Amino acid sequence: MSPEHNRPTTGSMRPVEAAHSAPATAVHNPLPHANPLETLAILSEVELPTIAKGPIIRRPKVVGVVERLGLEARAVKRMQKMSEKYGKGPLMLSIPGMNMATVLDPEHVHRILEESPEPFAPAEMLKRNALKHFEPKSSLISHGGERTQRRKLNEQALDHGHPIHRMAESFMPVVEQEAAELLKTVDAQGGVLAYPDFLDAWFKVVRRVVLGESYRDDKQLTELTEKLRADGNWAFFKPVDKTGRESLLQQIKAALDKGEPGSIAAFMSSLEMGSESSPENQIPQWLFAFDPAGMASFRTLALLASHPDRLDAARLQIAQGQEEKAPMLPLLRASVLESLRLWATTPMILRETTRDVEFEHGVMPAGTTVLIFAPFFHRDERNLDFAHRFAPEVWDKPRTRADWPLVPFSGGTAICPGRHLVLLLTSNFLAQILGQRDVELTSHTLEPGNLPALLNNFTLEFELSAL
Ligand code: HEM
Repeated sequence: MSPEHNRPTTGSMRPVEAAHSAPATAVHNPLPHANPLETLAILSEVELPTIAKGPIIRRPKVVGVVERLGLEARAVKRMQKMSEKYGKGPLMLSIPGMNMATVLDPEHVHRILEESPEPFAPAEMLKRNALKHFEPKSSLISHGGERTQRRKLNEQALDHGHPIHRMAESFMPVVEQEAAELLKTVDAQGGVLAYPDFLDAWFKVVRRVVLGESYRDDKQLTELTEKLRADGNWAFFKPVDKTGRESLLQQIKAALDKGEPGSIAAFMSSLEMGSESSPENQIPQWLFAFDPAGMASFRTLALLASHPDRLDAARLQIAQGQEEKAPMLPLLRASVLESLRLWATTPMILRETTRDVEFEHGVMPAGTTVLIFAPFFHRDERNLDFAHRFAPEVWDKPRTRADWPLVPFSGGTAICPGRHLVLLLTSNFLAQILGQRDVELTSHTLEPGNLPALLNNFTLEFELSAL
């Protein structure tokens, strides 16, 4: 069944909507508020696990605990309870000194994402405090004219309108070489593929594609980014390491000045810029975000290893694309998207209202942090029959506002401008592995009809053998 058919019907109101409707004068203004106990439950069951896992860089041990205790499923259940009680919301939380709202209605997700940056600014307070540790002038935490220039530069450099980046032909040999090196390493250790080796190879691809050939082994740069991201996990609770941040930005500036042929840095340097574009402040977001792309790819491998029919179909596409310089590989792309739907790497999409905003049931005040908890929508078995299974077909057609919101890359005007590049590189990297080796998932057993709420990428392990 297509997601549209699963949308909640407008004919049958949910209990709370009924309770909140009736006389026009009783329309809620302000919006419904969760009581203090419910607020505490949302903060501890929904927000805390995400923050503890590490919003900017994952803490592997905590990810393990959250997986073992089933905390992700509990978070979704808590949100479902709130939507059963409060209907469309948005639901204001009762936090002293701070306005925060959580989104309960699929229509509101679309609206908020489309109406960014005004009145729903991506440069939300918590995000600003987390990202300032390594990219204080990033598009994502900028507003107004600065944001316009920075967003435009990102869109151009990442070729955001095109599924195949215009420089794809220079990226593909890099993907091929690094995957071949990875397979050599795996063969040398008896066929075992674990996350550290996968990530190491993946980041060689990332550094070569983004910064250039000479950065292949520059692990220091990745480590510095990781250190600053770890600071970012603490947001305003940790002072900014200004020396580390300056060093990162200077190294990126040097890569932009060098402009190594075939790198996006070189392409970026050739683009027209405004006085506030700050290219060196945009690239840290890319280096950061290629890390979750690695997590999503490894989980995709687990999905495909556990769904042999899909794996066969993907291999067919790999074989068909062999003559092409940069193949599209639609099933592998859809599989990565599914990995991101099932296990969102950006589970919390945050916005901040720049003025009072009217909703059906009341007004959200200016300065409210708006939280879209993606897993609540992605894993909603009440409305999606594919909520807990691997369903790459849901990505066959571009998703629109008429569809149920599946937003692993966000949506609307601030949609991730790197999404096509991510899908191009991840699908082709996976194709190199799957096209040359059989893959068995040895660390976990995935039940196809009932996939877990969290899959710990750090502990996944595979046995690779000759095809
Ligand atoms: C699996 C990998 C990735 C996922 C799931 C992802 C997801 C997202 C999401 C959800 C946002 C919006 C965040 C928000 O609204 O607060 C975003 C923004 C952004 N992403 Fe990605 N991203 C990924 C990888 C990348 C990569 C590799 C790049 C660059 C090469 C990139 C570049 C950006 C930029 C520049 C923004 C800010 C856009 C703006 O300011 O409007 N992303 N991404």
